[in-house]
Amino acid sequence: MLDGPDGAGKSTQARILSEHLEQRGKKVLLLREPGGTRAGEAIRKILLEQREGGDHLSALAETFLFQAARAQLIEEVVKPALAAGTWVICDRFSLSTLVYQGLAGGVDTGVIEKLTSIATAGVKPDRYLVVWVPTNVGVERRADRAADRMESKGDVFLRAVADSFRKAAKREPKKYRLIDGQGSLDDVRERIWSEVEPLFAGHTGSQRQAALGTRGQASSGTRRGTGSK
Ligand code: TYD
Repeated sequence: MLDGPDGAGKSTQARILSEHLEQRGKKVLLLREPGGTRAGEAIRKILLEQREGGDHLSALAETFLFQAARAQLIEEVVKPALAAGTWVICDRFSLSTLVYQGLAGGVDTGVIEKLTSIATAGVKPDRYLVVWVPTNVGVERRADRAADRMESKGDVFLRAVADSFRKAAKREPKKYRLIDGQGSLDDVRERIWSEVEPLFAGHTGSQRQAALGTRGQASSGTRRGTGSK
């Protein structure tokens, strides 16, 4: 999985990584959360669309919606892809829920972890990369894009999000790899590749998961599971 605060460049890097893996003959599926299924994209709209006059959703309600979208994605798309030997790359995953709804949003993190474990049904990433930039860099990078509902929660919230990603990644270095998202696209691409390459080199077609998901036997072709942003 590629995760991290807003404006860290994850989505671009996820695309670059998936193209790189394809060039090496892998079958790759690039997904994003929330989304990637019909139900997931509908849930995404509820969660992220800005509505006139606002539409309050509690952090707990957000938690259930993100987890519902995740459960659907895992069941409908990720598990079959893994079974077919596809490398799955996902733009955001469970750490986002822990950070946005839990550590920054105030929902009990134990509850979030329990729900994540149910929603993911045993699917665990081989590599969970947290691409991190300080809040001011993230905000600057996204200055030309309209803010979605989550991004409109204000500076204090976004700062708590960025801090929590960093702390969570540092607390569990085996589970999460913290990647410095500052510098040029190429710098960050290389940092990411140095984490993914060992998986690539050692892989012989098992059911283990890759950079963001799972990988299987070498083959070619890509199915994009993401909608347009
Ligand atoms: P998206 O446009 O995909 O963000 P980005 O390009 O920054 O990845 O929007 C996803 C938003 O939803 C983002 O602000 C993070 C938030 N989010 C949560 O709050 N909880 C979650 O569990 C997930 C997956 C995302």
